[in-house]
Amino acid sequence: MSFSYETGSPVLQDVSFTCEPGKMLALVGPTGVGKTTLTQLISRFYEPQAGRILIDGHDLQKVTLESQRKNISPVLQDTFLFNGTVAENIGYARPDASMEEIAAARGGIV
Ligand SMILES: Nc1ncnc2c1ncn2[C@@H]1O[C@H](COP(=O)(O)OP(=O)(O)OP(=O)(O)O)[C@@H](O)[C@H]1O
Ligand SMILES: [Mg+2]
Repeated sequence: MSFSYETGSPVLQDVSFTCEPGKMLALVGPTGVGKTTLTQLISRFYEPQAGRILIDGHDLQKVTLESQRKNISPVLQDTFLFNGTVAENIGYARPDASMEEIAAARGGIV
């Protein structure tokens, strides 16, 4: 895929790679090369002008934003905790989550 924020200033040009399920992928490169831009395209804050991004074979532009946002969670380098309990922080996107579900989300450790 190719992407530019502004017409005539390409940021990513003919970028193509595959990340296999269960694998960890590191994007490494000099400052300004487009690493953060790539992650934002995967989160669909922007859309590529050419090419496609596929997740499990589904074109990201054809799935609903709701389904995309439910299945992809960016984890920031700087962690942020809301003023509340640890359980409330883990369950904040699902206020109806039970303690069992919250415990499962944190790896089963209560
Ligand atoms: N919102 C924006 N509008 C216009 N240009 C942008 C925007 N965000 C980033 N850019 C430009 O896109 C290019 C890629 O930026 P990006 O932040 O993706 O690089 P990076 O690889 O993450 O860099 P770093 O290692 O410093 O984090 C840079 O030239 C940057 O100036
Ligand atoms: Mg960056």
